[in-house]
Amino acid sequence: MAKADIGLTPKQTEIIAKILSPLLADEFLLYLKARNAHWNIEGPDFHTVHVYFEQLYTELEGVVDGVAERLRKIGHYAPATMKDYLQLTHLSEKRASKNNSLSFMKDLLADHDAIIVYLRESIVKLGKEVEHAYGTSDYLTTLMEQHETTAWMLRSHLK
Ligand SMILES: [Fe+2]
Repeated sequence: MAKADIGLTPKQTEIIAKILSPLLADEFLLYLKARNAHWNIEGPDFHTVHVYFEQLYTELEGVVDGVAERLRKIGHYAPATMKDYLQLTHLSEKRASKNNSLSFMKDLLADHDAIIVYLRESIVKLGKEVEHAYGTSDYLTTLMEQHETTAWMLRSHLK
């Protein structure tokens, strides 16, 4: 692979890749969990929630693509097998306890919250360890805000 000559040392891109790879795995798992919720939701609010979960997984599909392509932009390959994702992720594949909206939303909210915490920690780590990682830093900050919006919506639904 031709080296990405973009003002970052291999050591610096390695640090960034070690942040982005588990993030990609987390986003992919969350995408799949939103799909699961969309497919298997049952209850009197079926239609509304079925449509909402579709909106969620569509958004996450874009996030997955964005994180993978950021890895490519810094000259690294994107992990892209289920085996890699299960090894890299911080999230659990465990299914929601019931197929109703409360159960699915509670589970999805916990995952969103966990990703927000990871992103916040990663932004701090990046600031300390890689001086010029403005692109990734900005990307992670915007992504954190996006997750915060979804987490707020899920939390509001659960009140
Ligand atoms: Fe569908």
